[in-house]
Amino acid sequence: MQLTAPGLVLRPWLEADAPAVQTALSDPDIARWNPQGWPVDEERTLSWLRSRADWSAGDHASLAVADATDGTLLGSVSLHHIHGDEAEIGYWIVPAARGRGVASRAVTLLTRWGFGQLELHRIQLLHATANPASCRVAVRTGYRLEGTLRESFRYGDGRRHDEHLHARLATDPWPGE
Ligand SMILES: CC(C)(COP(=O)(O)OP(=O)(O)OC[C@H]1O[C@@H](n2cnc3c(N)ncnc32)[C@H](O)[C@@H]1OP(=O)(O)O)[C@@H](O)C(=O)NCCC(=O)NCCS
Repeated sequence: MQLTAPGLVLRPWLEADAPAVQTALSDPDIARWNPQGWPVDEERTLSWLRSRADWSAGDHASLAVADATDGTLLGSVSLHHIHGDEAEIGYWIVPAARGRGVASRAVTLLTRWGFGQLELHRIQLLHATANPASCRVAVRTGYRLEGTLRESFRYGDGRRHDEHLHARLATDPWPGE
């Protein structure tokens, strides 16, 4: 399966992505806001890749975000905790590709696919309140803020953070529509 948007390809993860993923998971912002455990060594990276490449349990749909022109790995986007017609969405973008709408386009693409192909009704998006860039992605992609969860998740810095809960319903209008 492959999804495309101008300049972007969302495609399944490959073991060949290991070096780029190891670098990405070692980025301080990704390690903080998308914690996968430490150290980010080869074994942990391969385990991360294999779990995301294996969709057989039906509880997640995880894709690599790549540059459509040269195939460079730009990031990660996934629907996870899929149960019934609900799911959560998560993402990270490598530092060199930030600030040019990659996360917003990838989230929009996977959200449309989740509502269309998986027939989801509700997708949640959670981020630490201390992570305003992620909040902007949520708002730009039409995930409405529903509230603040207090000290609801322990992030990579070892601290529990308050989180914003955003969500989209299949029936919500898209931004600008
Ligand atoms: C959050 C993240 C995914 C955004 O990726 P991106 O491709 O740069 O996102 P976009 O370009 O689509 O949008 C970025 C938005 O964040 C804003 N932004 C960036 N840094 C910011 C900051 N420090 N404070 C506030 N807003 C910020 C940008 O201005 C932009 O919003 P705008 O278009 O309304 O101006 C990326 O920064 C990242 O991977 N961070 C580390 C991991 C992470 O936070 N993952 C999400 C966990 S919930």
